[in-house]
Amino acid sequence: MATYTAETYGERIAGTYDDWYDILDEDTVPTLRELAGDGRALELGIGTGRVALPLQQSGVEVHGIDASQAMVDRLRAKPGGQTIPVTLGDFAGVAVDGEFSLIFALFTTFFSLLTQEDQVRCFQNVARHLSAGGAFVIEAFVPDLARYDRGQDVRASHVGTDEVRLAVSQLDPVSQQITSQQVVLTEEGARLYPVKIRYAWPSELDLMARLAGLELRYRWENWQRAPFTAQSSTHISVYGRA
Ligand SMILES: C[S@@+](CC[C@H](N)C(=O)[O-])C[C@H]1O[C@@H](n2cnc3c(N)ncnc32)[C@H](O)[C@@H]1O
Repeated sequence: MATYTAETYGERIAGTYDDWYDILDEDTVPTLRELAGDGRALELGIGTGRVALPLQQSGVEVHGIDASQAMVDRLRAKPGGQTIPVTLGDFAGVAVDGEFSLIFALFTTFFSLLTQEDQVRCFQNVARHLSAGGAFVIEAFVPDLARYDRGQDVRASHVGTDEVRLAVSQLDPVSQQITSQQVVLTEEGARLYPVKIRYAWPSELDLMARLAGLELRYRWENWQRAPFTAQSSTHISVYGRA
């Protein structure tokens, strides 16, 4: 995957994203709405608007950043998608004007930043755009290196009569990067959907927050706000100004 860049994931997956990920926990939008209060919200990696559109419909002014024109085109084609201001570019720089009471990166999107340096830079830029009392929300998985046997993992995510979907991954524990392909096999042939991430444990994210002058307000296991424990495989972390 020599030419993987910030837009690669979205450009390849845009056509199937909404079919594969037609899921949204019913408590996501009410929680984000509560955190936004009377202010504006900014989604990092807004994609096709899976979260942004219902959040906008709940009455919050939503803005977005995304690297993929193909993902933003899908957002634009949906009802309400024309009215959300979207900046095309890398969200590490948070290149938008003004302040937001809520900035959020859900669905593990924060890990799309492939170096620790870019992740730290993103926290710092988020802090610059967060209003007093504002919240920065990250939804991500807790790394589980036990999934990898000698640095590799292959899983069947779908096995149907006419289609098989495999998730094939390699782990580099030094850079904390996982390089994956979703491989879709049909009678017609194979299609590849590449994705690369840099994972971080919650404690590393908390340290990045501190470097940016932020601190952890809440950490939940899910949108029902279940307590985060040693058994939690996901987390929703809410940061505010220290
Ligand atoms: C997993 S999708 C999530 C989309 C949406 N937030 C959702 O929850 O459905 C990740 C999105 O982040 C975008 N993205 C990935 N890396 C990015 C980067 N460095 N800068 C801006 N957007 C990026 C992708 O194009 C894609 O739209």
